[in-house]
Amino acid sequence: MKPRFQRPRPQQYTPAAPASRVVTSLTNPLVKDIRALEMRKVRQEAGLFIAEGLKLVADAIEAGWPIRILVHRSGEDKPMLARAVRATRQAGGEVLEVTGEILEKLSRRDNPQTVIGVFEQRLEKLDGLKIAGGEIWIGLDRVRDPGNLGTIIRTADAVGAEGIILVGDTTDPFGIEAVRATMGSIFNIRLAAASSQAFLAWRKGFEGLVVGTHLAGTHDYRDVDYGKGPCLLLMGNEQQGLPDELAKACSHLVKIPMRGQADSLNLAVATGVMLFEIARGQLKLD
Ligand SMILES: C[S@@+](CC[C@H](N)C(=O)[O-])C[C@H]1O[C@@H](n2cnc3c(N)ncnc32)[C@H](O)[C@@H]1O
Repeated sequence: MKPRFQRPRPQQYTPAAPASRVVTSLTNPLVKDIRALEMRKVRQEAGLFIAEGLKLVADAIEAGWPIRILVHRSGEDKPMLARAVRATRQAGGEVLEVTGEILEKLSRRDNPQTVIGVFEQRLEKLDGLKIAGGEIWIGLDRVRDPGNLGTIIRTADAVGAEGIILVGDTTDPFGIEAVRATMGSIFNIRLAAASSQAFLAWRKGFEGLVVGTHLAGTHDYRDVDYGKGPCLLLMGNEQQGLPDELAKACSHLVKIPMRGQADSLNLAVATGVMLFEIARGQLKLD
């Protein structure tokens, strides 16, 4: 069955307008459609995703992310929620007031958040993507684990990186597990996606530094001058690492030295180590 998500029609909010539609049945069609967003195919077709938590959802709305549906638990009465409800209605989105049972089903959790937002996805095309001086981007080759991807998005946000290019067949950044692991940073980091071939073609026109990480890298990651220009950090797949064709496209191949018995670092940890080194000059305590 095709989801029935409506395109939003911006409305003039008037205080007299009903704030929310009350829904108590798990068989409500809109509730079923939101539940269906747990499937990647449905998310892709609808171009939507779910984010959970009042603060996170309210911040995203404030930052201008297009919200289609705001779901909140009946009886919630917080000024931040009232603002989010108003902003959702002004943007033409729908507001649903639901039972705790429905929230549990929507989030597949026993102790769910009291607010869920259904937002439009933003995924840029690599064609025409320009990386400006000083920007840090990360290329992730076929990242498979949603927890890794979410953690990398969160870490990229923490160091002030600009965006992430998903190369090849990757896990969905808009899947609920990945979004959860971003802790809201999904709303702060630009995302682009491309096949490996499209990435290699784009790379030919990119004049900044491309630093690949590789277990066979001969440079210590601390010895590279990351400079002030644009920098793209390229990370390999969890199982297979960087394939040769991507490794050859790098300006430098670096390694993070290790002393113990571990063969390699976890992908998200290695990305974190690299990002803090690349951004070192730009990071200061207040
Ligand atoms: C779990 S590792 C992949 C291990 C894989 N078996 C291999 O041979 O590359 C995932 C990615 O993290 C990065 N990585 C992990 N440990 C690293 C290290 N010590 N030095 C440089 N990169 C590392 C690389 O980008 C690597 O492709």
